[in-house]
Amino acid sequence: MEQYNKDEVLLEVKELSQYFKLGRRTLKAVNHVSFNIHKGEVFGLVGESGCGKTTTGRTIIKIYNPSTGDVFFKGRRIVAGIQDYREEIAAIRKEARAQINAEKANLKELIEKTPEREEEYKTEANQKITAICEERNAKVSVLKEKIASAKHDQKYCDKDYIAEEVKAVDEKYEAILAKLTNEEEILKVKAEYQKERKTASQKRLVTQIQMIFQDPIASLNPRMTVKDIISEGLVIQGVKDKKFIEERVYEMLELVGLVRDHADRYPHEFSGGQRQRIGIARAIIMNPELIIADEPVSALDVSIQAQVINLLNELREKMGLTILFVAHDLSVVKYFSDRIGVMYYGNLVELATSDELFAHPLHPYTRSLLSAIPLPDPHYEKQRKRFSYNPLAEHNYQTEQPTLREVAPGHFVSCNTEEFEKYKKILEKN
Ligand SMILES: Nc1ncnc2c1ncn2[C@@H]1O[C@H](COP(=O)(O)OP(=O)(O)OP(=O)(O)O)[C@@H](O)[C@H]1O
Ligand SMILES: [Mg+2]
Repeated sequence: MEQYNKDEVLLEVKELSQYFKLGRRTLKAVNHVSFNIHKGEVFGLVGESGCGKTTTGRTIIKIYNPSTGDVFFKGRRIVAGIQDYREEIAAIRKEARAQINAEKANLKELIEKTPEREEEYKTEANQKITAICEERNAKVSVLKEKIASAKHDQKYCDKDYIAEEVKAVDEKYEAILAKLTNEEEILKVKAEYQKERKTASQKRLVTQIQMIFQDPIASLNPRMTVKDIISEGLVIQGVKDKKFIEERVYEMLELVGLVRDHADRYPHEFSGGQRQRIGIARAIIMNPELIIADEPVSALDVSIQAQVINLLNELREKMGLTILFVAHDLSVVKYFSDRIGVMYYGNLVELATSDELFAHPLHPYTRSLLSAIPLPDPHYEKQRKRFSYNPLAEHNYQTEQPTLREVAPGHFVSCNTEEFEKYKKILEKN
């Protein structure tokens, strides 16, 4: 199964959070979630309804501005939250204010006790207050720089990326052209140069990540033909050549197992599985490196689910795709994913290779998800006990909060120190 390149991280999600304000309450839909996806890998993200899977995907493709945390794609920061920095600034200011007030109160007391030394005390206090302010300003300015840099990356990541890509093309062809003398050859290379330069100038980073949406009915515009739906991304990118667009659409339809004749029809004329194929065609026409497939099969009949998963698997091999596969059911991702991350109420609670997670599930929530999977084995089915996860009964986090820790190489579990030791022992026994 492991056909991906472990050395090349394509997507890095770092402490990503997405909070929603619900009146006076804040819902932490995604709460400091971190994971990497390697090039060519299928990474399954699993958890029950409402745990924040879609929100994670949407934040990665920049539909939402994140509250905090970063996302790096091909080593470049494409998503950057600033709320943590803002809160840190507020805390530093508050702390400095408290220190200054304490100094002032101290000064007052000293002067009351020994009024003849007032001037001396005042000078001393002023020096201390100046030092507090200087320290505060230095800390705040570091954080303000981080905010400015986050805002810049969030806004200009594509522009900066394209500028670099175009520059690389320029340099490549300048070097080639400098060596040529034959007029005919020069013309030929120049034509190639222009073509490659144009491609580079259109290749936005964010279009290299495409999402396949959860609901194949709601995500396709009913008033657009299949051709218009599939080619929309290209048109937005500025491609105008109608013939080229049409050919690409036909090519995509065939790739996803539909036929040319489908191009002029409307979404309602298709079955659920076919609509999801249209959704997949719409994503892959952009030649993405990463596909975020948000529960692409959960709205489909079981018999159709396998077909769509097989299609994604074929495309992965043909196009060298990397896939973030979102599902609420572990059995769906088991055979398809190289690694799996389990989410519970906005938090990542366990992360391991697919085999390891199924062989040695450690977090009680993961174990409860596994206990819900029926297997076509009567003996197993007789013994299978379903149990539900009750965090209050399972953990005591009053003295120490959990963090994501590496219990065995590549196997991460959200736990505190006590649980960490317990989990390590469990793995040793196995
Ligand atoms: N735009 C929004 N505004 C406010 N709350 C939101 C928004 N989007 C999602 N939420 C809330 O955030 C939480 C996570 O939602 P999300 O859609 O990411 O869950 P999910 O894991 O994809 O669930 P499902 O399996 O049902 O698709 C839910 O409680 C949801 O109600
Ligand atoms: Mg969802």
